[in-house]
Amino acid sequence: MNILAIESSCDETACAIVKDGIECLSNVVASSKDFHEKTGGVVPEVAARKQMEFIVPVLNEVLQGDRSGKNIDAIAVTTGPGLAGSLLVGIYAAKTLSFMWNKPIVPVNHLVGHIYANFIKKIDMNEIQPFLPEFPAVALLVSGGHTDLIYIKNHGEYVYLGGTLDDAAGEAFDKTARLLGISKYLGGVLLSKKASECENNLLKGRLPRPMINEDNYDFSFSGLKTAVKRMVEMENPPVDTVACEFENAVVDVLVYKTMRAVNKYNARTLLLGGGVSANNQLRNRILLESKKRGISCFIPPVSLCTDNAVYIGSAAFFNYTEKNIDEINANPSLGIMDKF
Ligand code: KG4
Ligand code: ZN
Repeated sequence: MNILAIESSCDETACAIVKDGIECLSNVVASSKDFHEKTGGVVPEVAARKQMEFIVPVLNEVLQGDRSGKNIDAIAVTTGPGLAGSLLVGIYAAKTLSFMWNKPIVPVNHLVGHIYANFIKKIDMNEIQPFLPEFPAVALLVSGGHTDLIYIKNHGEYVYLGGTLDDAAGEAFDKTARLLGISKYLGGVLLSKKASECENNLLKGRLPRPMINEDNYDFSFSGLKTAVKRMVEMENPPVDTVACEFENAVVDVLVYKTMRAVNKYNARTLLLGGGVSANNQLRNRILLESKKRGISCFIPPVSLCTDNAVYIGSAAFFNYTEKNIDEINANPSLGIMDKF
């Protein structure tokens, strides 16, 4: 089954064709990130206008001239969470194609989508990865807007274990990057790069590891950002050292709580997803801890960690819920457990 997937929840306009939920046949992403850099954050109106500008060229490129949709069996689209104006652009493109081609339309939760980046077969050295994740699994979803731990019994059977009570992990990275003068917008990658320049972390253990010892699966990162602010004001330490200690603190908490969930729920598999799963330290440590416990660990390639439509196509295939065109609406505040 070939699914044409459309993702437009925020500042990326993305389309892809995914075969049987696992094989990426075509993948195009356009981003309006550069426009938001100037304002230091996404202006929803600007993001929506850029979605409108990009959607047809991106669709054209991914379809490679197939205007009839003859090779497409269904259309998947992100319906939430995200910015209303941005979501609506993708949704109306999907509705129009569904109507024109008389093909089914499948709504997808963007958060569930991130997890399905792990079901796309990796083509490595011309060899296709031979196996897919097995259940039960624990998923750590770490993005700009979410930090969630989810127990997955099977496709479509999710149990929410816990999540952030305030800032998401990505948000904490971005706000701290701004505070340290590293970057005004989406500074997570640059903060991490700065952290890697630190050869000797003289601040080791000085920042809090919020909620690490609490017997739950919740997180809190806003206090960490405040602690960084205070540390900079009082001591003015080298930026790379603060960045390193900050990254260590976030990763310590994420890894510790994730592994606690893995143990408690006897998970066979650990799945990582969301933009922050591009973080090298998080990737290495999650992999190491999984090896120690003898469980399989799946981490998407960096190109599939940030927003794209490939994982939307995969999530649609494995959680297939066909809807009438009229039933498809934007749901900006959709949670991971919410039904359509
Ligand atoms: O999943 P995503 O692309 O967008 C949302 O759906 O939110 O995640 C974006 C987030 C941003 O906060 C960005 O700074 C963060 O992921 N991020 C990183 C890294 N790469 C992206 N954070 C830390 N280290 C990275 N290497
Ligand atoms: Zn995302």
